[in-house]
Amino acid sequence: MTDAKVGIIGLGSYLPEKILSNADLEKMVDTTDQWIVERTGIRTRHIARNDQATSDLALEASRRALADSGLIATALDLIIVATVTPDMFFPSTSCIVQEKLGAFEAACFDLNAACTGWLYALDVAWQCIRIGRYRNALVVGAEKLTAITDWQDRNTCVLFGDGAGAAILGRTTDGSEIISSYLGADGRWGKLLYLPGGGSRAPASHETVDQRLHYLKMEGKEVFKQAVTAMVRSAEAALERARMSVDEIACVIPHQANLRIMSAVAKKLGIPSEKLCITVDHCGNLSAASIPVALDEAVKQGTIAKGDTVLLVAFGGGFTWGAMVVRI
Ligand code: ACO
Repeated sequence: MTDAKVGIIGLGSYLPEKILSNADLEKMVDTTDQWIVERTGIRTRHIARNDQATSDLALEASRRALADSGLIATALDLIIVATVTPDMFFPSTSCIVQEKLGAFEAACFDLNAACTGWLYALDVAWQCIRIGRYRNALVVGAEKLTAITDWQDRNTCVLFGDGAGAAILGRTTDGSEIISSYLGADGRWGKLLYLPGGGSRAPASHETVDQRLHYLKMEGKEVFKQAVTAMVRSAEAALERARMSVDEIACVIPHQANLRIMSAVAKKLGIPSEKLCITVDHCGNLSAASIPVALDEAVKQGTIAKGDTVLLVAFGGGFTWGAMVVRI
């Protein structure tokens, strides 16, 4: 193990051009703009084209992150794609991205920790570079959640969108670094947020399709409660490991599932709302892509400046949760 600092040396994101508004959803299911805004904070979300798969979104975000880092694709030696909506079971979406990028020096794998996926991937890549096994990692969170959205279920179809965010991780000497990480999971809650069909438990068949098992299922109320508790606990643990207080944090980037969840987490942590980065209003819930997309947006808009310390915190299916403290 070395003490070399590892940090984010490039960031990029991509949101598909097509936008689906709450008014559009009013025509599809029994819902209203007012209900969606009041309960979730979501106004619009980006929707991928039929011919776009998750790897296409990931590729665009990755190209932008690479350009931001100044590296060429062959300088990457590790690619991790965090996703619950891979192009297919295999090959992995990361291998598909590798081929399209021409990053043929890189080892590739996908990682599934649902909405916490990008933090899990960032933690893994951080450790891999820290111990000297890899030098430059591409860490992508990419989702085409509309592919697993049941457009007849108003409880869930108003919540999700499509998009991708990517970071290049490498050794740094300019002060930017990943400072701490805390990850957790509890499989006992798996069926509160899951996709039952199409896997080895219920392989795709006419019956599974008729029963709509290939769509995401969620017990929203219970997920809400657990999310707040776990995100607060994760943030506190990551801050403790960083030996930092919330006052030293310039900006908090929570997983963007619901504005009320994020506000409750910020309130419990004693973080003023102006330090909260919000993209859920125009992105909806992007699962593993939500934090890297929000981080990229905050850096590009100048909300986060070089040298700022940010707190990333997530919760997702599994259940999984985690938080990281990162100096940009
Ligand atoms: N439009 C209008 N009414 C609706 C809609 C809708 N789109 N959806 C549900 N309702 C109705 C329900 O049917 C219910 O009606 P009833 O009282 O007559 O039965 C009523 O609204 C209230 O429903 P609740 O589920 O109690 O609403 P709640 O305030 O809990 O909000 C929500 C629902 C937004 C889903 C919230 O529970 C939530 O955000 N949960 C957490 C989501 C999350 O964090 N997911 C984690 C990550 S996602 C991942 O890992 C992929």
